[in-house]
Amino acid sequence: MAGPVPVASSLSDIYTIDAIGTQAKRWNNLLTRFQSIYGQQAEFVARSPGRVNIIGEHIDYSLYPVLPMAITADSLLAVSTNVTSASAKEGHYKIKIANVQDGRFPAHEFDIPYDAVDIDATVHEWTNYFKSGLRGALELLRKKHGKDFKPKSMQILMDGTVPAGGGLSSSAAFVSSSALAVMVANGEKTVDKTELTELAIVSERAVGVNSGGMDQSASVFSERGSALFVSFTPSLKARPVSFPKTNPELTFLIAQSFVTADKFVTGPIHYNLRVVECSLAAAYLNAVLNPPGTQLPSDASPLSVSLHGFHETYFALEEHASGATKSKSTEAQLEELVALTAEKLDKKDGYTREEIAAVLNISVDELDKQFTSRFPVRADRFKLRQRALHVFSEALRVLKFMSLLEQQPTNTDDTSEYNAQLGDLLNQTQDSCRDVYECSCKEIDELCSIARNAGSYGSRLTGAGWGGCSVHLVPADKVKAVKEAWEREYYSKLDLSEEQKEAAVVVSKPGSGSAVYLVEDTGPVKIDERDRTSDGLY
Ligand code: ATP
Ligand code: GLA
Ligand code: MG
Repeated sequence: MAGPVPVASSLSDIYTIDAIGTQAKRWNNLLTRFQSIYGQQAEFVARSPGRVNIIGEHIDYSLYPVLPMAITADSLLAVSTNVTSASAKEGHYKIKIANVQDGRFPAHEFDIPYDAVDIDATVHEWTNYFKSGLRGALELLRKKHGKDFKPKSMQILMDGTVPAGGGLSSSAAFVSSSALAVMVANGEKTVDKTELTELAIVSERAVGVNSGGMDQSASVFSERGSALFVSFTPSLKARPVSFPKTNPELTFLIAQSFVTADKFVTGPIHYNLRVVECSLAAAYLNAVLNPPGTQLPSDASPLSVSLHGFHETYFALEEHASGATKSKSTEAQLEELVALTAEKLDKKDGYTREEIAAVLNISVDELDKQFTSRFPVRADRFKLRQRALHVFSEALRVLKFMSLLEQQPTNTDDTSEYNAQLGDLLNQTQDSCRDVYECSCKEIDELCSIARNAGSYGSRLTGAGWGGCSVHLVPADKVKAVKEAWEREYYSKLDLSEEQKEAAVVVSKPGSGSAVYLVEDTGPVKIDERDRTSDGLY
């Protein structure tokens, strides 16, 4: 899985055959618009997709493994570096960036000083996502080529089809494709997937959301036809996971709630607050369960201490103290942690700053400095019990889901029972997200119950939640019934445009990850002969 980001030579290297017709039109439109805006041809296109998360919600920033997959919808950046140097101020380079949806995302021009990329995270501005990719890529380029490395000017046109704020990670698609575009524009012939992902994870935080690493990993590493198992410790690793053949066949349906969840705006009471609560829970459990003075390891999680870090420390110390020669299985450890959390974090209505600081033996100011200063939060009480319970139990569900996938069904003529076991785990995730982690909303709950009543094995929110998207594991022969039920009981009650109606529900096949496409001198984007005939459009 590791290795360089692929260079595609035709659209069929990127998309499945059923998508080629639509994508070819879109790519050619992008390149034609580029030519008319900048008066020259684009040199290359950097592409990164959105993702849907199958299982493992809100545990990536606690450094537990997750199982997402890439979708077809993506972010494309057409780029040329042929910008006259005279157009930038002395000591600066020029970034001109426009969007095919120019009404919603207006064009900008920036003169950026060679030494720093300024990002104002207090304003919600679409180009901040490009700048965060730029900043991360430049750090990597400087590591490789020395601190005096001078980036090239760029002209960019973006086309994103991942619905923004819809839970399918348009932001990571945008940041990853931006970082990739900057690397290629600055002459990197090969871009390492792990390096690209790591820089995209850290740099996306510059827009003001203290996110984990699942989205960027799914966007960069995914392979067509497979889901992706992403683990974050001891270092970032991703491997493809295939679903066994089942009967009835399984389909993933993604359904929009059309409740836009803007993580940037609601960060202080939703996403960023959950990140703080999880890290505080790790510090609290460390203080009450590990020997006095035990320090948690500083790790790659957004606030540097994580529940996974606590988990490892706790069992390492326990094994050392008992002289155990054999480690407990991770499943057994997680079960124990669920029980310990229920016992030691017994305040159901949450903990005040003062209460937590006293247990950590630090002042409230120190607590704020360590946990809430870079990404401010608004809360009087922190629900450490509920957040830790969700994280440990969700990490356990991911392992159970993976072992089901690895086991394969026994009765291959009828795998209904096996399918239902997979679905049950998704339903349990939804229950936990709704009741314990409090990141669902009534519209998502409704979509899930409508789907289950119409034959879905498992239905849950996907992505950050508080709106956005839901994912459903549906037998192929029930897809129609589930779609009809949503239309009847949910979508027909909303005032949706034709475009929204079309995008409301998609059958998702696992798509491929990031790629670079070098634009040829003339003519439209290349389509393989075999695709021309098979989709009949060209
Ligand atoms: P989630 O993180 O829950 O999976 P998401 O990534 O779509 O969903 P956000 O993290 O809030 O949601 O990011 C959405 C932001 O990304 C938009 O507000 C916009 O600034 C930027 N963005 C996304 N798509 C585009 C696009 N096509 N053009 C310009 N900016 C975009
Ligand atoms: C958002 C974040 C991810 C992850 C999910 C929840 O998509 O960007 O890092 O935390 O929410 O699982
Ligand atoms: Mg996002």
